[in-house]
Amino acid sequence: MSKDCSDTSQATGFHHVAYACRDIHENHRFYEDLIGLELVKTEVTPYGDGFFRHTFYDTGDGSCLAFFDLHGVGEEDKDRTDISTGLGMPLWVNHIALRRNEDQTAVITERLQEAGHGTYTLEHGWCRSTYVTDPNGISLEFCVDTPGFEPDRQRALELLDAIPESTVKVI
Ligand SMILES: [Fe+2]
Repeated sequence: MSKDCSDTSQATGFHHVAYACRDIHENHRFYEDLIGLELVKTEVTPYGDGFFRHTFYDTGDGSCLAFFDLHGVGEEDKDRTDISTGLGMPLWVNHIALRRNEDQTAVITERLQEAGHGTYTLEHGWCRSTYVTDPNGISLEFCVDTPGFEPDRQRALELLDAIPESTVKVI
């Protein structure tokens, strides 16, 4: 590990991550009304011959999930916001995961299902995850630590070139 990067004691995780959205209003209704993230900032910026809007939703601890609403700034297709399937990968590969507890996940899941959004839940052993696909074609996960994982840097390093020991198929 680089010496300059080794001290993360003052770090506080993500400031924000940003993705393009297809429809800013549909996206807003989904993330604020159903997921419960509050819109805390919007920027409107001219760019070349076009402009973009940039929205920031507080994920709960001040870090934000941000979106771009693009208008003629170089995008080939405004609707190609699906960051996995759009790149030829399964839906679940590139995704967003929010840490939530069981009660919060239950409330969100009920709201999503009442609004017609399909969800599914997987047990991962150390966490329980509920997934939904957002209006942009991005997989969104609600991750409940059960109880979470103990960091194990040495083992993690050893496994960087590992292949599975069993042939259990994940479908
Ligand atoms: Fe995940």
